[in-house]
Amino acid sequence: YLTFNFFIESLLAGLCLFLLLVYDALIRLRGTSGTLPGKDGFPLVGCFPMLGKHKERMLMKWSSSGLGPVFYARLGASRVLVLNGYDVIKEALLQRPLAMAGRVESDLIQELYDGKHGLIQLDHGPLWKEQRKFGQTTLGGLGMGKRSFEVTIVDEFNCFATTLENELNMNEPKGVNLTRMLRLYAANVISSLIFNQTFESSWFAENDVPKHTARFLILLMYVPGLKNLPFVRQQLAITTRTRLDKVKIFRTLVEEHRKSRDPNEPRDFIDCYLNVLAKNKGENSSFTEKQLLYYIADLFLAGTETSATTNAWALLLVLKNPEVKRKLRAELDVVGKQPTLVSSNDECRMPYTRAVMQEVFRFRPAVPFNIIARKTTSELELKGYKIPAGMPVIANLWSVHHDPVTWAPDPEIFRPGRHLDDDGNFVPSNHVIPFSVGARSCIGRNLAKNELFVFITSVLRRFDLELADGCHVGDISGDSGMLLHPPKYKVKGSVK
Ligand code: HEM
Ligand SMILES: *[C@@H]1O[C@H](CO)[C@@H](O)[C@H](O)[C@H]1NC(C)=O
Ligand SMILES: *[C@@H]1O[C@H](CO)[C@@H](O)[C@H](O)[C@H]1NC(C)=O
Ligand SMILES: *[C@@H]1O[C@H](CO)[C@@H](O)[C@H](O)[C@H]1NC(C)=O
Repeated sequence: YLTFNFFIESLLAGLCLFLLLVYDALIRLRGTSGTLPGKDGFPLVGCFPMLGKHKERMLMKWSSSGLGPVFYARLGASRVLVLNGYDVIKEALLQRPLAMAGRVESDLIQELYDGKHGLIQLDHGPLWKEQRKFGQTTLGGLGMGKRSFEVTIVDEFNCFATTLENELNMNEPKGVNLTRMLRLYAANVISSLIFNQTFESSWFAENDVPKHTARFLILLMYVPGLKNLPFVRQQLAITTRTRLDKVKIFRTLVEEHRKSRDPNEPRDFIDCYLNVLAKNKGENSSFTEKQLLYYIADLFLAGTETSATTNAWALLLVLKNPEVKRKLRAELDVVGKQPTLVSSNDECRMPYTRAVMQEVFRFRPAVPFNIIARKTTSELELKGYKIPAGMPVIANLWSVHHDPVTWAPDPEIFRPGRHLDDDGNFVPSNHVIPFSVGARSCIGRNLAKNELFVFITSVLRRFDLELADGCHVGDISGDSGMLLHPPKYKVKGSVK
């Protein structure tokens, strides 16, 4: 029976493969947008194998060596519009904010979200619009990005600091791995906003897929047909099950909130959402309990690994550049007289710290381009090319951050001083856009910036850290799967 089953599965797999190849050939023949330059790559997978370890760098290279600021690259089954450089990204995403405000709605995504739920993956339309507006207003109202919420961030940092202190003592010779601690710090900041509660583990903030299949999931987003292969189906089943486990926990927490809440004193994101649910009762509204559960999942997904990765980059870059560390310390010594922590109120008096933050975001953006593509909402013209409606779009933020003209003469060097004027004042740059721009830009940017600020200033005030022995980290180009991750490193040191 088993062998027979295996035979059938192989036969089905073969059949799927054949159909995909036919489909592939049809796409090539169809030839979309007139003269838009681009690359089609290989059958089935398109350009994926040509993009290498650093997709953002390769796309930028294609742009500067002939294809120009707007081109298409076929990824899997679809031709994706790729935008390179500040001018075209500004024109396409900022000046016509809704032109590229959609997302590709695939069967795969609807399977993972039990229909059209969440925020990140929703296509442009009333559901996305209402939910995004609610998210921005509510997170802002709860203090995200404000002084009041900073106390919470500092609390979470203190938990991180306690763990780090213990680990530094315990792992004397080997050094400490910060990955999990940084993830927990970021996850608990979000937990505070959503649940008014924190957790010992960041389990439900973690990816639903094992790391080695994350790359594979990207491929799957672009080659949805692969999900019919037996091996893939099995991986997807695991992913779906884990997601359902998380959603179950969220539901329990929402139930607890329902019982203990006071409509006049919303404590957190859930209370605010329940208020809207109560108000809209019986009406045809985009606010539903299931939507809330997937919204929560999306906030963790979007806000944990991104922030943790940014903080990990920041620390690595500071430790690798002793001169930067010295200057940061010098500024902190002047500003921070109180024994505990510096607040972001002091930010305006801390030009060097702000320059370091902007340089971290420029030099190693955690999201070098939106691998979860946007989508054009209507037909439009861009740089003389006609772009069809419904075309997936990737904005290569990396190409803005590493533009050889804007950042001459040394875009590839980590140099915070480039963001200071001759008098040492901080110069904000609109060419540093790690949160992207336009209608689908990041709704957590203020939170992420505060987390980074608290992290850099507090770590330097409380600890004397160095890279652990034998941890040279020569190559700091990082590794881009879903996000641009720093190379592995460990730290040693002591409390100041
Ligand atoms: C350093 C940390 C972060 C970085 C680098 C980052 C980056 C980004 C980028 C580039 C996008 C836009 C993708 C696109 O153009 O389509 C985005 C979207 C988003 N971000 Fe962030 N993010 C960070 C932290 C956060 C945090 C802390 C939260 C949650 C509170 C969050 C929530 C979101 C959501 C919900 C979206 C989707 C918005 C939509 O599709 O309408 N992010 N983020
Ligand atoms: C929960 O809410 C209360 C009141 O708003 C606040 O004082 C407390 O710090 C919050 N706790 C967490 C973990 O967010
Ligand atoms: C209910 O809402 C959906 C989605 O927002 C919309 O498509 C539909 O037309 C609405 N129906 C009524 C009766 O308002
Ligand atoms: C640190 O821990 C993470 C997972 O928690 C692991 O993937 C990584 O390899 C570790 N880094 C080092 C340098 O051991």
